[in-house]
Amino acid sequence: MMSGTLVGRAMLGWGSGLVLASLAWVTLAVGQEQSVRPGINDDFMQADPSSYVERFEKEGREVYDQRMTIVQASGVEPGMVVADVGAGTGLFTRLFARQVGTAGRVYAVDIAPNFVYQLVRDCRQTGYDNVIGVICDERSSTLPPESVDFVYICDTYHHFEYPYDTMKSIHSALKAGGRLMVLDFVREEGVSSDWILNHVRAGRGVFQAEIEQAGFELVEEVDFLKDNYGLIFRKR
Ligand SMILES: C[S@@+](CC[C@H](N)C(=O)[O-])C[C@H]1O[C@@H](n2cnc3c(N)ncnc32)[C@H](O)[C@@H]1O
Repeated sequence: MMSGTLVGRAMLGWGSGLVLASLAWVTLAVGQEQSVRPGINDDFMQADPSSYVERFEKEGREVYDQRMTIVQASGVEPGMVVADVGAGTGLFTRLFARQVGTAGRVYAVDIAPNFVYQLVRDCRQTGYDNVIGVICDERSSTLPPESVDFVYICDTYHHFEYPYDTMKSIHSALKAGGRLMVLDFVREEGVSSDWILNHVRAGRGVFQAEIEQAGFELVEEVDFLKDNYGLIFRKR
């Protein structure tokens, strides 16, 4: 079994000046044999990203309505290196890009290539030159070891098919003392909608325990969300 083998995925280009990162660390260590939720990402892999903008970036979606407060609560500061894992349409990538400024950078990490292409193109057109797109794989963020200060995972942890492997790769990618913020849906029997109960495989307790098992300790919780919970961890 090997771990952290650099396979050197080629740099990808998309239009002028757009560069996607070559960060293809393939984690061959297998923490899990089988996906915990086969097929959950099928729609994203085929997606036309523009059709998701109105789903992810609309009033009434709590994390959209509270986006500025979330960024403030993240503690992200100018000059930091941030990874937005499961970046989707780039809603938070752009906000973190503004927050870290020209001295910092944001890795927009996603398994769905079309999201990454579109997001990076949008960022280039709107002047966010500090965003680097990363097409990762389902078992790893593919970020190099000790390369980031802060990792953000919004509405995405429940999409991880191999959560232990993915979280170990994120643990490795964080610098010593680096922080991780996870936002996900409140999922409670008898309270949450059928859609959430069916779509989200587990609630906060299970997810927190899994994340801790991957080497993180909980240091803070956000208190301004209702439909979601927000947990901030530190790399142990
Ligand atoms: C529900 S969307 C959330 C997008 C964005 N974080 C937001 O809140 O607007 C989930 C995203 O996670 C991505 N995703 C799923 N599994 C992933 C994995 N293992 N690593 C990185 N991204 C993943 C999907 O392709 C999709 O873009």
